[in-house]
Amino acid sequence: MTQRKILITSALPYANGPIHLGHMLEYIQTDIWSRFQKARGHQCYYVCADDAHGTPIMLKAQQLGIIPEQMIAQTSQEHQADFAEFLIGFDNYHSTHSEENKQFASDIYTKLDQGGYIKRKTISQLFDPEKQMFLPDRFVKGDCPKCGALDQNGDSCDSCGATYSPTELKNPRSVVSGATPVLKDSEHYFFDLPAFEQMLKDWTRSGSLQDEMANKLQEWFTEGLQQWDISRDAPYFGFEIPGAPGKFFYVWLDAPIGYLASFKNYCDKTGVNFDQFWQKDSEAEIYHFIGKDIIYFHSLFWPAMLDGAGYRKPTSVYAHGFVTVNGAKMSKSRGTFIKARTYLEHLNPEYLRYYFASKLTSNITDLDLNLEDFAQKVNADLVGKVVNIASRCASFISKKFDGKLTAEIAEPALLAEFTTAGETIAESFEKREFARAIREIMALADKANQYIDAKAPWVLAKNEATLTEAHLVCSMGINLFRVLMHYLKPVLPAMAKEVELFLNDELSWSTYQTALTNHSINVFKPLMQRVEMTKVEAMVEGSKDNLQPTATVAPKAAETKAAPAAAIAADGAIEPIGETINIDDFAKLDLRVARIINAEHVEGADKLVKLQLDLGNEQRQVFAGIKSAYQPEQLIGRLTVMVANLAPRKMRFGMSEGMVMAAGPGGSDIFLLTPDDGATPGMRVK
Ligand code: MSP
Ligand code: ZN
Repeated sequence: MTQRKILITSALPYANGPIHLGHMLEYIQTDIWSRFQKARGHQCYYVCADDAHGTPIMLKAQQLGIIPEQMIAQTSQEHQADFAEFLIGFDNYHSTHSEENKQFASDIYTKLDQGGYIKRKTISQLFDPEKQMFLPDRFVKGDCPKCGALDQNGDSCDSCGATYSPTELKNPRSVVSGATPVLKDSEHYFFDLPAFEQMLKDWTRSGSLQDEMANKLQEWFTEGLQQWDISRDAPYFGFEIPGAPGKFFYVWLDAPIGYLASFKNYCDKTGVNFDQFWQKDSEAEIYHFIGKDIIYFHSLFWPAMLDGAGYRKPTSVYAHGFVTVNGAKMSKSRGTFIKARTYLEHLNPEYLRYYFASKLTSNITDLDLNLEDFAQKVNADLVGKVVNIASRCASFISKKFDGKLTAEIAEPALLAEFTTAGETIAESFEKREFARAIREIMALADKANQYIDAKAPWVLAKNEATLTEAHLVCSMGINLFRVLMHYLKPVLPAMAKEVELFLNDELSWSTYQTALTNHSINVFKPLMQRVEMTKVEAMVEGSKDNLQPTATVAPKAAETKAAPAAAIAADGAIEPIGETINIDDFAKLDLRVARIINAEHVEGADKLVKLQLDLGNEQRQVFAGIKSAYQPEQLIGRLTVMVANLAPRKMRFGMSEGMVMAAGPGGSDIFLLTPDDGATPGMRVK
């Protein structure tokens, strides 16, 4: 087999929000593929970075009162900690806000400009006169120009479904300041995408794209390619465009360039030859794994930019579908918007790696994480089938044969069946048909268990005359297990490592075909616990947003017409000002000063703190979702403001009799409202 040079990337997560299980599908898919390629002996690198630029990131940092650099540094730490625990084996993790990226972005832009691919055009856009900034579509709200529905987004109406430009909204207002936006002219820079139409058509036909993607591209060609607006006016968090003071690259211009930057950063540290991968005639393979929402950017803009600036194009772009949970879009109120961190607090990361692998195909269909099915499948397959083979054979070998496997293989034909399956399994992994690979592996696991059932070594072991046969059967079982674990190693790297310790052997593609004979193994330790539904439930409970100050989520909307796919992070920056209420609505709220006289952890809920509040003439128990920002002991003795006339609510942990008030986007940024000293418990807040 010839050694291939392969560079693999996953899409760069936005630096203003936490990693969630939807993201994890992508990083798990890519990581399995990358581990597989490395195991096969190829020269393979897997790089990624945080996507750190753009308006939402700038505004969120402002809201938190810190500079964007500080916020993205913190997020990067959190993202990398999550990825590491999910065993995502990046060779490098960088940032788009880096020196390398600035260099590449400037250089690529300059080459495109010299090639005549940058056009300048004055356009008129909504401008917030108070904030002194142009407003991306989703930062404008107003009444629908078609049906008049109040309080609609800048690009489409939830009520009648109309799509429009934000300039058409009636009574528009800025989500950032509430001010009425005005129209203002500004010169923008455009990338001449239509100039690359023929090149892109040829690339589409080169045969390495998924069918669904090639079809999508075909549709976009039919609709006609358009100039792409790549500039944004200050204030903007990004890179200033060379020779254009006050103009910045739109976040999506320098985001994919981050792939180059991260790889360059890696090459500079390790001496790997960057040009061998990226120069025009390179024979290396480059693959981008992405979600289906960002195909436009990766299959049109990105190859065109690379081509126009003298680089080679990716070998392929592999898109996957979206994760749903229990058959529906992930939802904060149902507790199915599950952060990577919350998952890790309750469950073993390899459960999810296995479950996703068992459902992943090479196409773009969505993937449902059904939590019951998840528990059932992991338990049935990994615990019930795979680990079971080893646990049924190991102790006997340890106890009666000093941990030594037999010198012969009892059933060479059966073992050969297991090893020759390696080629089709490898082919399934190679084609990203992980579900098929897992089915093949589990069918073999069934066979191994049937073999052991039929031979019943526990019966053979009782009788001195059949003791040798029992030894042969168990050694055979261990060898079958070893072959299967070798196939599962890209999916379950941590468990595979445990198995290597147990077997005293490295699970390697170059040696798995040779059986272990006359070989000493170590004492078997349980390799994987069953998934407990109570832990799954605790994770869902911990993901519920019920008592938390509303997290700031604006819909993931398209920012420009030329970019129909989502352009801004799901976890947006600023909470839009909500629906108006009248004075009577306001008067219904009974807000009171309360003193926190006790605060405690809540067993089994990692977001909640149980508060005992003194209201002067009575006490209340309230569960508040503020644990991510406060330790209970910090809270005792402080004053806060509570909604005193909220109907009591029965929670899993007890009654909650009101709600305390806090500000902020969530996570560690929750700020409990605390009246000045002098206020006393029971005082009305008006
Ligand atoms: N920053 C851009 C990507 C720039 S790449 C040059 C972005 N970031 S993201 O944080 O919103 O998403 C990162 C990746 O996760 C994307 O490929 C996206 O499709 C994927 N997913 C985000 N939510 C997802 C699901 N619910 N399900 C599956 N994948 C999802 O887009
Ligand atoms: Zn409407």
